[in-house]
Amino acid sequence: MAQKRIPLVAGNWKMNKLRAEAAELVSAVLRRVPATSTAEVLFCPPFTALSTAREAMCNALPKRLLDDGRPAAQLGAQDLYPGDSGAFTGEISAPMLRDSGCRYVLVGHSERRHVLGEDNETVAAKFAAAIAGGLVPILCVGEREPERLAGEHLSVVAHQLAAALKHLADRTVMPEIALAYEPVWAIGTGRTATPADAQEMHAHIRRDVAERLDGSTAAKVRILYGGSVKPDNARELMARPDVDGVLVGGASLAADAFLGIIAGAEPE
Ligand code: PGA
Repeated sequence: MAQKRIPLVAGNWKMNKLRAEAAELVSAVLRRVPATSTAEVLFCPPFTALSTAREAMCNALPKRLLDDGRPAAQLGAQDLYPGDSGAFTGEISAPMLRDSGCRYVLVGHSERRHVLGEDNETVAAKFAAAIAGGLVPILCVGEREPERLAGEHLSVVAHQLAAALKHLADRTVMPEIALAYEPVWAIGTGRTATPADAQEMHAHIRRDVAERLDGSTAAKVRILYGGSVKPDNARELMARPDVDGVLVGGASLAADAFLGIIAGAEPE
């Protein structure tokens, strides 16, 4: 029987929202998520709004719990530095994120890779630091358009996975991790991978995890799709067997749109 994976609907706010706006958005979403929703909802505000978002989450009633008893609303950060403390001006560490109430952290988002210059080795170091610091990393991978056109998308993603997952290869107890497939050409462009293309890549990623780590980790790991996810395409993407949730940028900034996407996690 296929493993049941709780859908994860994550909002990556990027460099948006002042604290008052953050509180308003979190409350507006949590007040209206139906009690019957089965999705885990994740907010990834900028660092400056983490504590405010946390407070708004704590104040939001009623509280929904997941099947395993965990709160269904979670907080995450968009990046971290691979070190616990020290002389790294401007950086934020895993212990600081834990202290701010984060359970998750995005690692290797396309904008970090392609706008801010992070290579696979930097991303891998952040991935390892997140795990060492007790966070669940959401490792983002994805090809650029010329790579897809050249038919290299599967190998580009395999290479990105290899760099980060090598840190886990000799573990006896596997920590929780999540993955996000975000084709670079689909981010913020209004162009989305077709559900069939997303499924092909997600199945490829799951096989890759099984080969590099083990079958039970591969069966458990949640693989999110990201890139122009909207209320009108979220359901058909998440209906695919290996698409276990979505990582949403632009459409996570407005309560109505984000709620529409959360609703898409429920089968019709
Ligand atoms: P988008 O961004 O939904 O605005 O395309 C997705 C992301 O960057 O995570």
